Amino acid sequence: MKQVRVALLGLGTVGTGVWKMIQSNQDVIARRTGMLVTVEAILVRNIHKDRQLEGVQALLTSRFEDVLAREIDVVIEVMGGVEPTRTYLRQAMEKGCHIVSANKELLARHGEELREWAKRHGVQLSYEASVGGGIPIIGTVSHFLKANRIYKVSGILNGTTNFILTKMKEEGRTYEDVLSEAQQKGYAEADPTADVEGIDAAHKLSILSRLSFDVCVTVDEIQRQGITDVTPVELSLAHQLGFAIKLLASAEQFGENGPVACCVYPTLLPLNHPLASVNDVYNAVHVEGDFIQDLTLIGQGAGEKPTASAVVEDLCNLGRVSGQSLTKAVRCPLLDGASEGGLR
Ligand code: NDP
Ligand code: HSE
Repeated sequence: MKQVRVALLGLGTVGTGVWKMIQSNQDVIARRTGMLVTVEAILVRNIHKDRQLEGVQALLTSRFEDVLAREIDVVIEVMGGVEPTRTYLRQAMEKGCHIVSANKELLARHGEELREWAKRHGVQLSYEASVGGGIPIIGTVSHFLKANRIYKVSGILNGTTNFILTKMKEEGRTYEDVLSEAQQKGYAEADPTADVEGIDAAHKLSILSRLSFDVCVTVDEIQRQGITDVTPVELSLAHQLGFAIKLLASAEQFGENGPVACCVYPTLLPLNHPLASVNDVYNAVHVEGDFIQDLTLIGQGAGEKPTASAVVEDLCNLGRVSGQSLTKAVRCPLLDGASEGGLR
């Protein structure tokens, strides 16, 4: 059994899910990976907030220096934002910590720099949760479509807006009312402007473009329009005419090594189109490649559990992907006999 000491940066929607999954699925994780995951510190803004989570209070700190002072193998970043997050991750990598992050904004804007730091310090950087919530699209494109020439990646990449469009159409509710429910459910970003203006989908498209086409398309280069102007009347009229309105993100390469066109727009889809029936908080990603032909992944694109799943799966795959040891072996009588296949 190998102990993996984790620091959590953030204990909001995603951090709470990660904490719960590490506690409740410890046996599954140990059996399948040989890892005994222990959370050593949790960074939050306000240590006095009532978290209603058994066992977290003693781990909370609002000072990143306290986290750095601990012996940590993996930093899980689920606090969001660009700064101070970027600085914290650099300092953690300098200390030799592997990084798992759900932060699409940071990855889209500073991905190259983060990857360079990770390489320089011999640590891993994983970010499955940054695109599509629980959908394993980053792993699919990075590890299972390496030999394909990818032509196009498109889909519904934002759960909040898909939830809003669905509820406005099906329940005749107002935009404000449904947005408020999406916020309560933990789907929306801290500032939901990023969701409703298509910025969050553009961040995700930028990350996917880098992985699919090996090109850097900055968020500012992505043409986009959000859903703030879409009205219930338009949704209903579109439906009567045989269409659904979806916020579609699309990246397409023209010619071998040619330019990549990226855009995010509310789009009319015929009702028999596979993505027209992807509703609520679900996301879908469609990939077209020369040998895979086409592949669609559908799953919950936001929220505590699916996102935590992607984060914890990243954690469990760190050793497997690198083939390197994350940490030293420890004896754990409780889990003796568990597989050590994950970490070598
Ligand atoms: P929340 O706002 O719910 O939680 C953020 C957490 O980080 C809080 O615990 C907060 O502390 C802490 N935090 C924020 N800033 C700081 C800071 N400067 N110093 C210390 N602690 C800080 O966010 P989410 O959990 O929803 O999202 C986290 C990340 O995951 C974001 O990057 C988001 O884009 C991404 N993501 C979110 C998904 C979702 O469905 N919500 C899905 C996929 C990715 P405190 O509790 O004290 O306020
Ligand atoms: N706010 C994002 C969404 C969270 O609604 O899709 C998941 O990335």
